[in-house]
Amino acid sequence: MRKERFPVAIIGSGNIGTDLMLKVLRSAGPLAVAAMIGIDPGSDGLARAKSLGVRASSDGVDGLLAMPHFDDVRLVFDATSAGAHARHWNLLRDTDVRVLDLTPAAIGPFCVPVVNLEDHIDAANLNMVTCGGQATVPIVAAVNDAALVSYAEIVSSISSKSAGPGTRANIDEFTETTATALKTVGGAQRSKAVIILNPADPPILMRNTVYCLVEGDCDHAAVEASIAAMVDRVTRYVPGYRLTRPVQFETFGPDRPLHIPETGKFIGTRVTVMLQVTGAADYLPPYAGNLDIMTSAALATAERIAAHSMTGVSL
Ligand SMILES: NC(=O)c1ccc[n+]([C@@H]2O[C@H](COP(=O)([O-])OP(=O)(O)OC[C@H]3O[C@@H](n4cnc5c(N)ncnc54)[C@H](O)[C@@H]3O)[C@@H](O)[C@H]2O)c1
Repeated sequence: MRKERFPVAIIGSGNIGTDLMLKVLRSAGPLAVAAMIGIDPGSDGLARAKSLGVRASSDGVDGLLAMPHFDDVRLVFDATSAGAHARHWNLLRDTDVRVLDLTPAAIGPFCVPVVNLEDHIDAANLNMVTCGGQATVPIVAAVNDAALVSYAEIVSSISSKSAGPGTRANIDEFTETTATALKTVGGAQRSKAVIILNPADPPILMRNTVYCLVEGDCDHAAVEASIAAMVDRVTRYVPGYRLTRPVQFETFGPDRPLHIPETGKFIGTRVTVMLQVTGAADYLPPYAGNLDIMTSAALATAERIAAHSMTGVSL
């Protein structure tokens, strides 16, 4: 019996869009790439799409809407930029397609699949946060499951080479959207996010540092176990996701408080988690784990939405 397919379109033929297209094509899941849409006729992503037999257009979202088979498309991934996504959403919101936003536009609710996908399975527009958010929000959520996180701060370092013009245009949106998701999805009471584009050559692997401040003492073994279980769940869809060293705990007592400029003295525990993401090299080489963590999260989300839409089942 022929497997039911769930046609999807990708807008944005740059680093993220091209990596995503290759992942969808290589996946044994229900998604089928119905179209690859860009605005740069000379882009490598559109050329690859055509060479792989995928319908391609360089006329932007208008080109997608004008395609005779647009009515078959069930879901559109947007991998352009936050500003472009706002315009695309205005045009797509009155159609029947679901939209998965891979930019940090933050129009729809945030989705970090291992933490809250089931809460938003029917959202018309779902925001996939950022690469840093997909890497670090699960860790903050894991710590918060074991001990109340009063503050979370993350630093994501990615290679300059893996950040296309769309990423560079969205640095402010990255910090704001990631920091908000650390609270709304991760559960932290306050948060901050920092991104570093590292120009080193050869390029560096994507690395992330997560600091969580936990009031008072906490059960170290419970925090470690919660983080280990979460890492395990993320590696099911991003195999190159791993801790680079054991979880670190530092206690600040009344005799040696931590001074925080915005809030003053902190007495409690600082949990530090360091992780890296090695990419699957579907498009860029393995250093670009920042592509994988986003495109793998988006693929896993879309496959779950497809299963839900086609059968109406819940996990
Ligand atoms: N590179 C990363 O590590 C990464 C990770 C997660 C999320 N993101 C986000 O993904 C988005 C894309 O990042 P990128 O690094 O792939 O950038 P990129 O510049 O390589 O890709 C963006 C592509 O979108 C195309 N485009 C721009 N406006 C368009 C429009 N109106 N219609 C159709 N196509 C349009 C551009 O021509 C380009 O090909 C950004 O919002 C970024 O913040 C990037």
